[in-house]
Amino acid sequence: MEYHVKDTALADAGVQRIEWADHEMPVLRQIRDRFAAEQPLKGQVLAACLHVTTETANLVRTLQAGGAEVVVCASNPLSTQDDVAAALATRYGVPTYAIKGEDRDTYFAHLNAAADASPTITMDDGCDLVSLLHSARTDKLAGVIGGTEETTTGVIRLKAMAADGALKYPVIAVNDAQTKHFFDNRYGTGQSTMDGIIRATNILLAGRTFVVGGYGWCGRGVAQRARGLGANVVVTEIEPLRALEAVMDGFRVMPMAAAAPISDVICTLTGDKHVVRREHWESMKDGCIVCNSGHFDIELDLVSLGELASSVRSVRPFVQEYQLPDRKIFVLAEGRLVNLGAAEGHPAAVMDMSFANQATSAEYMAQHAGQLKPDVYGVPADLDALVARLKLEAMGIAIDVLTPEQEAYLTSWHEGT
Ligand code: ADE
Repeated sequence: MEYHVKDTALADAGVQRIEWADHEMPVLRQIRDRFAAEQPLKGQVLAACLHVTTETANLVRTLQAGGAEVVVCASNPLSTQDDVAAALATRYGVPTYAIKGEDRDTYFAHLNAAADASPTITMDDGCDLVSLLHSARTDKLAGVIGGTEETTTGVIRLKAMAADGALKYPVIAVNDAQTKHFFDNRYGTGQSTMDGIIRATNILLAGRTFVVGGYGWCGRGVAQRARGLGANVVVTEIEPLRALEAVMDGFRVMPMAAAAPISDVICTLTGDKHVVRREHWESMKDGCIVCNSGHFDIELDLVSLGELASSVRSVRPFVQEYQLPDRKIFVLAEGRLVNLGAAEGHPAAVMDMSFANQATSAEYMAQHAGQLKPDVYGVPADLDALVARLKLEAMGIAIDVLTPEQEAYLTSWHEGT
């Protein structure tokens, strides 16, 4: 079996951490047990282009238990946990192509290695594998029955492909499941982003002005957690409804041009490019810390910052100091997602639900092979509801059920004032 990982000697440490994460993933464990008995993925070759973390390893173990042959490649050059990659390759028998800090050529070589496996199902986080199979690797397109997509950015790309008539196979937007984005995007990104910023810098956030760029599910999570740490939180937005929601949630809202000069920390989570650009770098205070927790490293225009700087040096792991004529600006994790670059990504308890949706969506694809036309589909509502029910059960939380009288009331129109 082939693989490309940093150091196979890290495998034991990887296994320990994967098992630790597994304790926090009871829903995925239940699905794994059912998969082992029912083998719903037997005969499928599943190429998973995901952040190579302990949580992903437990998803991969679940897919294997279901009978799939799984190959893994990194979905981001900086998010791989090298001990996990080593464990997947040498302890769990998974061809794994992922090295933390890999350059662009290696990143694409790894994607190509996953394509070489002739997948029947793709599992993406950001749509890079789907995109490769629709461009440089169309030789492998015909064998794919369907795919799944983990993240907002990937779903946006897929919908653009579908609108162009370019998408050649059906893909389930796992991100759109309520048990995914309500929790992963909000509480997962909220906690792991603060974790990344704090691990990288060890700064005190209380009393600091913390600017959150974008008030989608991820931005909401970060704004809440930054407030919880005592920061004075400012939100920037382009959508009136979200801006209004941020105001009513108690945050100050203003354009980035007004926020940049007063900020101590800026974190972007918009999914769009150049949210922080030359005009903003030029107005920042000395010592401002800037990072991104959106999927791609396009939110900060680092080219213009580099042009303004006389020198750039690394001052701590994942912290780069840009020396401007009269000020320093610090950029975390090279502008890549700070929660996975400088920390370990979302905690396992939240990935439990995201990856339960991934596993059951892959099963759904296998069950519906050839029946769905190329398009972007939501996670079936019954699967989404099942994940919520299993998670509550695993947490030991019971909820009420409607009485027959209440049920009748909700379906009738006769009772009123
Ligand atoms: N995306 C965000 N956090 C993650 C994690 N811990 N594992 C895989 N993908 C992630």
